[in-house]
Amino acid sequence: MIGYNICVFLITAIVFSQLDSTVAKQCYSCNSTGTDAGNCLMNPTQNSTDCENGCSTSISEDGTLIRGCELANCNSPTCWSCQTDNCNTNIVCKECLGLEECATANVTDAKYNAVCPSSQDQQCVSQVNGNKTVSLLCGSACSNATCSSCTTSLCNADLYPADRRQCYSCSGTDCNKFAESMITACNQTDAQCFTTGTSETNMTRGCTSADMAIKCAANSTDPDCLICDSNLCNTLEYQRDAGSCVICDNCAAQQDVNDKKSCDLALYNQTIGCYTMTTGSTVSRGCLNKLDGECSATNSCTSCSESGCNVAVVDVAFECIACISNEVADCWSATKPDELPVVKCDNGTCFSGVWNGLGVRDCFSSASQLMQYQCDHKVEGYQCTTCNTPTKCNKNAFSGAASLSQMGVVGLLMALMLALRSSL
Ligand SMILES: *[C@@H]1O[C@H](CO)[C@@H](O)[C@H](O)[C@H]1NC(C)=O
Ligand SMILES: *[C@@H]1O[C@H](CO)[C@@H](O)[C@H](O)[C@H]1NC(C)=O
Ligand SMILES: *[C@@H]1O[C@H](CO)[C@@H](O)[C@H](O)[C@H]1NC(C)=O
Ligand SMILES: *[C@@H]1O[C@H](CO)[C@@H](O)[C@H](O)[C@H]1NC(C)=O
Ligand SMILES: *[C@@H]1O[C@H](CO)[C@@H](O)[C@H](O)[C@H]1NC(C)=O
Ligand SMILES: *[C@@H]1O[C@H](CO)[C@@H](O)[C@H](O)[C@H]1NC(C)=O
Ligand SMILES: *[C@@H]1O[C@H](CO)[C@@H](O)[C@H](O)[C@H]1NC(C)=O
Ligand SMILES: *[C@@H]1O[C@H](CO)[C@@H](O)[C@H](O)[C@H]1NC(C)=O
Ligand SMILES: *[C@@H]1O[C@H](CO)[C@@H](O)[C@H](O)[C@H]1NC(C)=O
Ligand SMILES: *[C@@H]1O[C@H](CO)[C@@H](O)[C@H](O)[C@H]1NC(C)=O
Repeated sequence: MIGYNICVFLITAIVFSQLDSTVAKQCYSCNSTGTDAGNCLMNPTQNSTDCENGCSTSISEDGTLIRGCELANCNSPTCWSCQTDNCNTNIVCKECLGLEECATANVTDAKYNAVCPSSQDQQCVSQVNGNKTVSLLCGSACSNATCSSCTTSLCNADLYPADRRQCYSCSGTDCNKFAESMITACNQTDAQCFTTGTSETNMTRGCTSADMAIKCAANSTDPDCLICDSNLCNTLEYQRDAGSCVICDNCAAQQDVNDKKSCDLALYNQTIGCYTMTTGSTVSRGCLNKLDGECSATNSCTSCSESGCNVAVVDVAFECIACISNEVADCWSATKPDELPVVKCDNGTCFSGVWNGLGVRDCFSSASQLMQYQCDHKVEGYQCTTCNTPTKCNKNAFSGAASLSQMGVVGLLMALMLALRSSL
């Protein structure tokens, strides 16, 4: 009897011990601080080991991930255990619950890594909370305007929502030049970037915000606030070189780029570049940062951004004063040039001069060959000058008195008129 019992006991023990060894679990084993860190997070199936009990996936406070045999003291949420072969494939997600940095920074630091529960349906989730903060966490699949999920470890590390505006954010003495360390994503999904300040050592940059008491709100019309709407656009220093432009009032139709002059410095809230503006038939050119008001089609203003770029021909009706002093009393002195008769002059050059005691003003191409020669060579006695600025530039007063005695010299006058008309 005793022998039989011992025999049964021994057999049972042997069977059990063999069962036991076939019951031992396989568990994935790795350590995220080891050489295979990436695989441990993303693809832990490289390395299995035998374990007596179950498997676990655990993470320490600094984000070190360990997969292996079930830890003696495995408590969620930092450690999840499971009981089937190679079951410890738990994904790892970013976890950041409603803190400012969850929305405004890339939560790259491993301290935000969390092990998700041992369940097939776990994904990494990014969501906007009811209070407009952002949470990153383990959860079940979602896909709508305020929630999105993804299936691989750490796939929820990016900014959410992805189109969240990013701006340079700083204030005070070291805020004149931007730096990478100042990059912040905006709290509010509809934010833009702003720049404001009173000097190189008192600048402020950041995100506009509808509900914070900051100087430059999203809809600010304050001229001190420069608001821009693309990522990292708020870069302008307090002052910058404004380049150079052709600067003139009542300018000739075309200008020479070599005549450009410095536009000095522009403030952060000023546009730089050159303009050409046409008022009536007067053309003016200059620096955008010195222009009061806008430059747009409504004020017949065009702008360009390269140095000295405002040289192009302006197609304005080119006009000259056209009169003879015996017909128009003020033609001699031109005291009221705006009231004298004008002609269109496609040639672009006007002249004025004195022939036979009569003051004559007109388009240069209307003058006879002889008169043109006398003008071009400044032949004495004719006081002839030419000019080429668009609006009635031939308005110099003549010196001396108009020779009334010549009024009767009809023949000479007729000859002059014929000369003028024949060359039209
Ligand atoms: C594989 O698992 C064993 C046992 O846990 C461990 O000693 C070893 O470091 C692991 N190798 C890798 C590459 O993780
Ligand atoms: C994980 O790996 C690091 C470096 O290889 C080692 O110092 C640490 O003890 C490991 N931790 C565990 C629990 O194996
Ligand atoms: C906003 O809501 C989230 C999720 O409910 C919470 O974690 C967070 O603490 C809240 N934040 C504030 C500032 O109320
Ligand atoms: C977040 O990371 C992306 C890609 O690496 C980068 O372009 C962006 O500037 C970062 N944003 C912040 C706020 O750190
Ligand atoms: C988006 O999905 C989440 C999770 O499924 C849900 O809680 C939330 O109410 C949904 N939001 C909208 C705007 O549908
Ligand atoms: C985000 O909002 C918090 C308060 O809700 C504020 O303290 C912080 O300055 C804001 N950050 C940015 C970049 O606007
Ligand atoms: C600095 O700038 C702020 C506005 O951006 C202004 O209110 C303040 O008076 C300035 N401080 C100095 C010392 O100029
Ligand atoms: C800006 O918008 C906020 C909310 O949208 C509003 O309360 C505020 O009056 C607006 N301010 C201006 C200057 O339009
Ligand atoms: C630029 O800001 C200054 C104050 O910093 C202000 O006096 C000026 O009017 C602003 N200029 C423009 C063009 O908005
Ligand atoms: C204007 O007319 C004069 C004389 O006819 C001629 O020499 C000159 O080239 C013309 N200029 C233009 C721009 O047509």
